Amino acid sequence: MAGEEKRPRPLVAGNWKMNGLRGALAEAKAVADALAAQPMPLAANVLICPPATLIMVMAEILRGSPVMFGAQDCHRAASGAHTGDISAEILADAGASAIVVGHSERRADHGETDAVVRAKQAAVHRAGLTAIVCIGETAGQRLAGQTLDVVVRQLDRSVADGSTAANTVVAYEPVWAIGTGLTPTVGDVALVHGAIRDRLVERFGKEGHVMRILYGGSVKPQNARELMHVANVDGALVGGASLKAADFLGILAAYG
Ligand code: 13P
Repeated sequence: MAGEEKRPRPLVAGNWKMNGLRGALAEAKAVADALAAQPMPLAANVLICPPATLIMVMAEILRGSPVMFGAQDCHRAASGAHTGDISAEILADAGASAIVVGHSERRADHGETDAVVRAKQAAVHRAGLTAIVCIGETAGQRLAGQTLDVVVRQLDRSVADGSTAANTVVAYEPVWAIGTGLTPTVGDVALVHGAIRDRLVERFGKEGHVMRILYGGSVKPQNARELMHVANVDGALVGGASLKAADFLGILAAYG
């Protein structure tokens, strides 16, 4: 689609998943300190999504730093009798600025459907935060040649009408690339991100041109530069390599 639109500022988000004791806060601090010491500001926004227990402490540690922090999931309701769950409002109160919804691990471990993900996205918006909505095909679906169908269907059903570039980020994470060290070719990434962009523009017009589309799945310092320069890749959602400051900074260097 037309490429004259202003490109969005990239976002590199670290998803710590179910990792992170208090000691891990030193890694977040090291990232913030290293970025502060750089002569040139980074050409990307940076977000870290630790386990919910660390969010309030992270607010202290990252005070005054451009590094933002967020959460990995939320309940659809604002409050109430939902033992063990956490709402977008509670996460906003703790200082989160974004919440990942619909990660393939939530879809697989907790049976989250596209409809559930869409409800969670609405909850994130209700709380005034940015939703990072994850989509991506399994290995079987890729082998069956269904990648684009699956991804566009998930996009249609998981991202609500009325979403904007300010409150919504799409993350394309092929399930088979998560934690495996495998990545699609840059050609395949370009194809899928191009299809996502086309659909976003079809649905959201101008907003669709500037809605960020992150790539996730085995992003490492070694492949970040190549992956981050593919057309319609507006940043990364990073799992394992976001746990160590040196690795995460290595990825951020693609925008340095
Ligand atoms: P890895 O970077 O460990 O492959 O994880 C990707 C991911 O699932 C981020 O949400």
